Amino acid sequence: MARALLIQLFTFTILLIVQSSPSTSLLLRPPHGGPRQSMLLPLFLSPPNPRRHLQRSDPQTHPNARMGLYDDLLRNGYYTTRLWIGTPPQMFALIVDTGSTVTYVPCSTCEQCGRHQDPKFEPELSSTYKPLQCNLDCNCDSEKVHCVYDRQYAEMSSSSGVLAEDVLSFGNLSELQPQRAVFGCENQETGDLYSQRADGIMGLGRGDLSIVDQLVEKGLISDSFSLCYGGMDIGGGAMVLGGISPPIDMVFTQSDPVRSPYYNIDLKEIHVAGKPLMLNPIVFDGRHGTVLDSGTTYAYFPEPVFIAFKDAIMKELNSIQKIRGPDPNFNDICFSGAGSDVSELSKTFPVVDMVFGNGQKLSLSPENYLFRHSKVRGAYCLGIFQNGKDPTTLLGGIIVRNTLVMYDREHSKIGFWKTNCSELWERLQISGAPPQMPSAPDREPPPTTAPTQVPDHVLPGELQIKQITCDMLLNVSYPNLKPHITELAEFIAYDLGINSSQVRLMNFTPNGNDSLIRLAIFPAGSSDYFSNATANSIIAQFAEHHVQLPATFGSYQLVGWNIEPLEKRTWWQQNYLVVFLAVVVTIIIGLSAFGMWFIWRHRQQMLNAYKPVNAAVPEQELQPI
Ligand SMILES: *[C@@H]1O[C@H](CO)[C@@H](O)[C@H](O)[C@H]1NC(C)=O
Ligand SMILES: *[C@@H]1O[C@H](CO)[C@@H](O)[C@H](O)[C@H]1NC(C)=O
Ligand SMILES: *[C@@H]1O[C@H](CO)[C@@H](O)[C@H](O)[C@H]1NC(C)=O
Ligand SMILES: *[C@@H]1O[C@H](CO)[C@@H](O)[C@H](O)[C@H]1NC(C)=O
Ligand SMILES: *[C@@H]1O[C@H](CO)[C@@H](O)[C@H](O)[C@H]1NC(C)=O
Ligand SMILES: *[C@@H]1O[C@H](CO)[C@@H](O)[C@H](O)[C@H]1NC(C)=O
Repeated sequence: MARALLIQLFTFTILLIVQSSPSTSLLLRPPHGGPRQSMLLPLFLSPPNPRRHLQRSDPQTHPNARMGLYDDLLRNGYYTTRLWIGTPPQMFALIVDTGSTVTYVPCSTCEQCGRHQDPKFEPELSSTYKPLQCNLDCNCDSEKVHCVYDRQYAEMSSSSGVLAEDVLSFGNLSELQPQRAVFGCENQETGDLYSQRADGIMGLGRGDLSIVDQLVEKGLISDSFSLCYGGMDIGGGAMVLGGISPPIDMVFTQSDPVRSPYYNIDLKEIHVAGKPLMLNPIVFDGRHGTVLDSGTTYAYFPEPVFIAFKDAIMKELNSIQKIRGPDPNFNDICFSGAGSDVSELSKTFPVVDMVFGNGQKLSLSPENYLFRHSKVRGAYCLGIFQNGKDPTTLLGGIIVRNTLVMYDREHSKIGFWKTNCSELWERLQISGAPPQMPSAPDREPPPTTAPTQVPDHVLPGELQIKQITCDMLLNVSYPNLKPHITELAEFIAYDLGINSSQVRLMNFTPNGNDSLIRLAIFPAGSSDYFSNATANSIIAQFAEHHVQLPATFGSYQLVGWNIEPLEKRTWWQQNYLVVFLAVVVTIIIGLSAFGMWFIWRHRQQMLNAYKPVNAAVPEQELQPI
C-alpha cells in the first residue's frame, strides 16, 4: 500500500512532449518500475527561454505569494499546495512540480477524469473565465477554435485539455493579489494523473506556461520562488512565489539555465561523516548534470557516486544491523535499531555534506537520505539509489526536507537553508532580524581591497574568522551539570558535524539554577580560518536550536556570540607565493591549454546543439528526466 503510493512521484517530474502533429512520438518507459527505475532519455532538449532575464526586480518592491504545502512526499508521493481559480474562487490541491510547466485542473467538461479530492473546475460558474482563442502561438484543436495542450508523462500517464485564462488566487497568507493567468482545463487524464487524489499539477519549471514565468513576465513578482518541504512523518511545509530576503546563512550554488532547462546545481563533492568520497567532480556533471526536482521523491546517483556513497555509509554504520527492505522486489539497503525518534537519528547516522563549486556546503541530516522502513519499527532505508546507467544526478524532495530551497532564477542560483519547514514563517521573521552581538566589541571592519582571485571558501571582501565564541545558558544547575561537562563539547561537535577537537569549553559558571558556559569553536586542523558564511551558519545552528543536546543538559539559549577575525594581513602578503607560481604555471601551460580548450569547446558545442523537433512548437517545454 505504502509502496504503491510511493510510485507516484516519478510521474510528476516529468515533462512532456509537445503534441499537435499526429506524428508526435510518445515517450515510453518500461512498465512500472516505481521510483526505483532509472530516468528516461529525453528525445530532445529545448533551449532556455531567452526572455527570462529581462525583468530586474527585488523582493522589497514586489509582493510575493506565501502558500502552505500539504501532504507528504513519502506517504502520498507528493506535496500539494492550494490554488483558487475563477470568480468566485474554486479551490484545488495541486502537486508542486519544478520539473514541469503547465498548471492544470480537471474541467467539468472532462470526458475522462478520475475522482480527486475537490470538485472539478466549472468554467460556467466563473465570471472571469476565458478560453484562449486559437492563434499562431498555440496548438489549436481540430476545429481551430481553442488553444489546447497535451502532456504525455512517464508510464503513459497523460493530461490534455484546453488552455484558458482566469483569475488565480494564492490564498489568505499571500500579499500577491489574485491575477489572471493561463492554465489547463483538463478534458482527459490517464495513468497516475487519473488515479491520484490530488486534483492536478502546479508547474514551476522554466517555460512560458509556467506559473512563475507568467507572473514574472507581467512584472508582478521577482524572478524567484521557494519551496520548503516538511520533515519525515510531518510533511506539509510552505512555499513562496516571488522573492524573499534570503536568511544570512543561506548556502548558495550556481544554477546554470543554459546548461539544461532543469534546475541544476553545481555539485562538486560529497562528504560522509566529514570524509570526502574519492570521486572526480566530473561525475556530477554527466548528461543533465545535477538536477533538483521537487516532483521526484528520492535521489538517484550515477553508478560510481552511488557505490562510493553506499560504501561510505556502510562503513560508518558497521555497528548497527543491516536488514531486508520492506519490499522483496527491491534491493533496499536498510538498518534496524536506530530508534523511532527522528530527532535522534543523527546520533546513529552520519552527516552527509554536499559541497558546491564555490566551496559552500549543504549538510544533509539523516532524514534527507533515509526513509522509514514500513514494516520494522525503528528501521530506516537509504533513500538514495543508483540511477541505472544514466550519468545524471537527480535530487528529489527527500534531499530537501526541512530545507528552504530558494530558486533564484534572476541571479541563476539556488539557495539552501536548513530550518523547520512547519514553522517557516516564524523562522524567516527571526532570521530577518539577526540577534545583535552583545559581546563583539572588537570586530574589525571588512578589508576594503577585495582580492581579484579569492582563496577557496572566502568571498571577496569577506572576513577570515579564526575563532567563534558562543555563550550559552543551560537550564541545568551547576552541580548537576558538572559531571557531564566533558561530554558537552563532543555532543556539540557531533551536531555541528565537526571534529570534537574543534570545540573547546572555555568557561563554565553557575547562574542561579542555570549554568552559563562559554565555548570556543576553531577551524579544522587543516585550515586556519572559517569563512564568514561558515561562521554565520554555526551561530545560526545554535540560535535556531539545530544543535540538540541530550536531556541531561536541559534546554539551552544562545545568549551571546563573537567572531574573531584572523589578524589582518593583506591578501597579497598571504598569497604572493601562490600568485607567483600561478602566474608562471599559467604562462607555461596557457598556450597549449588554449588549443585543447578550443577543441573541447568545439566538441561541446556539437554535443549540446539543440535539435529542433518541430519548428512550429510555440512553448518551451521541459523533457522527461
Ligand atoms: C485562510 O484559509 C484557510 C483555508 O485555506 C482557513 O483555514 C484559514 O482559517 C484562513 N485564515 C484566515 C486568517 O482567514
Ligand atoms: C518542527 O515544528 C513542528 C511544529 O511546530 C514540530 O511539531 C516539529 O517537532 C518540529 N520539528 C523539529 C525537527 O524540530
Ligand atoms: C559577515 O556576515 C555578516 C552576517 O551575514 C554580515 O553582516 C557581514 O557584513 C559579513 N562580513 C563580511 C566582511 O562579509
Ligand atoms: C580530529 O582531529 C584530530 C586532531 O586534529 C585528528 O587526529 C583526528 O583524526 C580528527 N578526527 C576526525 C574524525 O576527523
Ligand atoms: C531554584 O530552584 C529551587 C528549587 O527547584 C527554587 O526553589 C528556587 O526558587 C530556584 N531559584 C531561582 C533563582 O530560580
Ligand atoms: C529545561 O527546560 C526544558 C524545556 O524548556 C524543560 O523540559 C526541562 O525540564 C528544563 N530542565 C530543568 C532542569 O529545569
